[in-house]
Amino acid sequence: MALLEIFTFPAPVLQQKTEPVTTFDQELENTTQSMLETMYVSSGIGLAAIQAGILKQIIVVDLKSGEEDKSLREPHVFINPEIVSSSGRTVSEEGCLSVVDFRGEVERAEYITVAYQDLSGAAKTIEANDMMSICLQHEIDHLNGILFIDRLPLLKQKMVKKRLKKLANDDA
Ligand code: NI
Repeated sequence: MALLEIFTFPAPVLQQKTEPVTTFDQELENTTQSMLETMYVSSGIGLAAIQAGILKQIIVVDLKSGEEDKSLREPHVFINPEIVSSSGRTVSEEGCLSVVDFRGEVERAEYITVAYQDLSGAAKTIEANDMMSICLQHEIDHLNGILFIDRLPLLKQKMVKKRLKKLANDDA
């Protein structure tokens, strides 16, 4: 399975809109497998296809990504996910494989219901709280071209983006 290259801020692709998946075939399954492998190698708990430059509404999540025993992993694939209801507010610290070297507190809904399709195209819903809720909201934001740093208070956001752009330039 080929590992994917993950784009990092300020790569313009991360701000693009993504298209719904309409074909549920082997290629889609291969893409999600590559996404999961890339996520595990990168020690992430979630990855959106857009982070690898694939402008499709595909996300993978595994809250047990950090388990050394691979049999304890819990990979989830969400195709065309959409938040259909949300309630409560919660603040937690987030990071992102596309945002190098920065973590920050973000306010999000506490409980959400997400409608999505599985790899066969079957319609599903999931009710999520805690980490799963936060992770799904973070990943669904990616599908709309939004990074968690876009949800920081404006002043902090400007500061962080300036620093990250400088870091990216220094690396180039
Ligand atoms: Ni992310």
